[in-house]
Amino acid sequence: MITDKQLKKLWRDFFTKHGFTQISNSSVIPENDPTVLFTTAGMHPLVPYLLGEKHPAGNKLFDVQRCIRTGDIDDVGDYNHNTFFEMLGNWFLGSCPKDEMIKLSYEFLTSKEYLGIPTEKLSVTVFEGDETAPRDEVATNTWKECGIAEDHIYYNPKKDNWWGLGSGVGPCGPDTEMFYDSGKEKCSENCRPGCNCGKYNEIWNDVFMQYRVDNAGEKAKLLENPNIDTGMGVERTICVLNGAKSSYDVGVFKLAIDLMNEKAEIKNSDETVRSYRILADHLRSSIFILGDEKGIKPSNIGQGYILRRFIRRSVNHARKIALNTKYFSDVVDLYIDYYSDEYDILVKNRDLIKKELNIEVEKFTKAIDLGYKEFEKVIAGIERHKQFAKEGEIVENIISGKAAFRLFDTFGFPMELTEEIAKERGYEVDKAGYEEAFKAHQEKSRTASAGAFKGGLADSSYENAKLHTATHIMLAGLKKMFGNQVEQRGSNITPERLRFDFNLDHKMTPEEIKELENFVNGVIERKIDVTCEELSLEEAKASGAHGIFDSKYGEKVKIYTIGDVDKQICGGPHAKNTGDLHHFKIQKEESSSSGIRRIKAILD
Ligand code: ALA
Repeated sequence: MITDKQLKKLWRDFFTKHGFTQISNSSVIPENDPTVLFTTAGMHPLVPYLLGEKHPAGNKLFDVQRCIRTGDIDDVGDYNHNTFFEMLGNWFLGSCPKDEMIKLSYEFLTSKEYLGIPTEKLSVTVFEGDETAPRDEVATNTWKECGIAEDHIYYNPKKDNWWGLGSGVGPCGPDTEMFYDSGKEKCSENCRPGCNCGKYNEIWNDVFMQYRVDNAGEKAKLLENPNIDTGMGVERTICVLNGAKSSYDVGVFKLAIDLMNEKAEIKNSDETVRSYRILADHLRSSIFILGDEKGIKPSNIGQGYILRRFIRRSVNHARKIALNTKYFSDVVDLYIDYYSDEYDILVKNRDLIKKELNIEVEKFTKAIDLGYKEFEKVIAGIERHKQFAKEGEIVENIISGKAAFRLFDTFGFPMELTEEIAKERGYEVDKAGYEEAFKAHQEKSRTASAGAFKGGLADSSYENAKLHTATHIMLAGLKKMFGNQVEQRGSNITPERLRFDFNLDHKMTPEEIKELENFVNGVIERKIDVTCEELSLEEAKASGAHGIFDSKYGEKVKIYTIGDVDKQICGGPHAKNTGDLHHFKIQKEESSSSGIRRIKAILD
């Protein structure tokens, strides 16, 4: 039996021994990246460095990073999909010694001191080559050199062995994936790594980031400074190494499911296991979002919407297993206690997490009540229709797809619930019609959010760097006007505009907005050089820099200084000189949430 805590320790010991530096596990909300809502891989916080920025901690790094992926949210509940997971990652920045990395991977996987997997239990896949890049002979030959038999090496096209961010922009390249053979029989003659039957289970991915895509859909260009990015999912690896069928049968998930099983009236069985797993997954993800440094709350947009969805689905599934939602608080304690050694932030925010979770649970419970009333109206409508039906007209007991979608969209009434109570009352739901209404809605939201992507990966453009510098100057202005207690509460930059949240107890007056604009434009006119230095955290503090001092492992941090205006801990990138910003204009000042104001501004 190997636990997630042991796996993380082995990972840290191994990469430390090989001269890599540990970097901090950062927020699940990416900084200044409009292309995604959550950190979806360990490499996410490193994107600027993978594109060529210098990392203050050096060029051989590793970490344990918390991630959230919601693309497969509807699959959660099967045996291995999770929305939240921890990813073990390591990087070579600015170089791509494939053979060295593959040998390191082989050593970690097979050495008795580390995972001790017998070589014959490993299979690997390698990029087969296409018009962008040739077949990866270096990877193939190195695996052979390590002792992987030829018939355990498989070649795949881009769709399987090429990795990049989900947004389709950013650093990317061919990869080589490592699979653990569960010992099961092949499900067919064609069974091979990548098949989902459970024989071959992926545990590690070494990505050779030799390319970059600046705008979605464009051809990949060679990166001047290629990198290696690797990722091993903790949950999945633990499941596979322990020979478990499902990641929900081991580790902290098992503890959470056992706890809920104790409290719920309908016990964990083949019929209810999906609800138990969804609850275990969604409550954990909610805890990590609510407890995050960035302070996300349930809402109807962005991360807040996903959080709301997690909580609402949890309430719905709690209902299915007759689990009183008052026990969510016990599940929260279980998770926070389990993760307390790695995540101080959760311990610190324990009360806040419980409070916000509770508010949303109550809100949704009320909404469900309203939904029930609306449901009754729909049924009454059908019955009335029957009563006044024309001669020969047949009115069936069918709830239209539109009505079902309205119940979902307006009242938060999940389709499954509509179907369930409809059935109890002798009605059916037009599922196809519902899907159609749902798709039409999705299409609308996709078009609305497409705007966020059209500028390409923000981090790579100088426009973005200039807006980032403007953000620093603006915060300095706000501190000057309203006092040092004003702090950043959120920042999001697209190539077109900056958006900045900060704490302030009142709506800014037009005069104050003008004063702030004048301050920023004054600094722009002074044409001040923006300089960067790398310091230890202590030195940074002593230098009077402000920013988030959350480094745990003593790595160096970057300090960006704008003359006498601002000195801040920040990953960059920034403009070289404030003169490059040209002219700053505030477009909007509004409330973001209680006590938090939001400014949207542009450079023109
Ligand atoms: N970034 C790579 C992944 O997520 C390692 O698989």
